[in-house]
Amino acid sequence: MPASRRNPYHYIRLQTAEDKTGHELDYDVLIVGGEDHKTGQAVDTDERFVRLEAWTRERFPMAERVEYRWSGQVIEPVDYMAYIGKNPGGDEHIWIATGDSGNGMTHGTIAGIILNELVQGRKHQWSRLYDPSRVRLRATPEFVKENVNVAEQYKDWFTGSETGDVAAIKPGEGAVIGRGRGKIAVYRDERGELHRLSAVCTHLYCIVRWNDTERTWDCPCHGSRFDPYGKVVNGPAIVGLSPVSQGRKKE
Ligand code: FES
Repeated sequence: MPASRRNPYHYIRLQTAEDKTGHELDYDVLIVGGEDHKTGQAVDTDERFVRLEAWTRERFPMAERVEYRWSGQVIEPVDYMAYIGKNPGGDEHIWIATGDSGNGMTHGTIAGIILNELVQGRKHQWSRLYDPSRVRLRATPEFVKENVNVAEQYKDWFTGSETGDVAAIKPGEGAVIGRGRGKIAVYRDERGELHRLSAVCTHLYCIVRWNDTERTWDCPCHGSRFDPYGKVVNGPAIVGLSPVSQGRKKE
């Protein structure tokens, strides 16, 4: 996040409301975002929604009910420029466009222009700027800071359980129990059945954490997310969390 941005910062957009058939309704929807946090590194996700609503009502007292709440992920390179070009160290024919920092429409258009030239063996004047294998000295302090932050997340290998008692996990909730490699991500579904997974992220082996708002297992290291049953929702992990036992025990 650029240092010039307020933290937490907020952003708004006005959208015409439509019904399910696409007919315009006679009111607008105010879309408000912010209260961002690193994936897997916040335990107060519900409070963040409360703060976001309070911020909005203070500035837009005419706002009525809250229609929807959701959260998503924004991928931000340390120098805030997207990665558009040949996949570093990858196959000769793999081209990428990622790291949009929330500007996917703009970067998608830029990627269409640059990649069209590159795949045809031509050069483009912007390609060096967005080169995925670029190294920018200016970004080094931020890069170091990010890596320290990631390293800190591995402390979860040595800490204890989020809850000592599986019975305390309510339907629709999850918690990590155990220690080290033996840490288990336990989810209790709405019917009360327990689903046990290895809590070790399949990307680079950080310990995942339960996201109570989105009902996902989130990795605090590089942002992988898994659904309550371990299926990958967001990379970089491409393999799901391993089931610890076949059982879906009721406790
Ligand atoms: Fe989990 Fe990298 S270790 S995303």
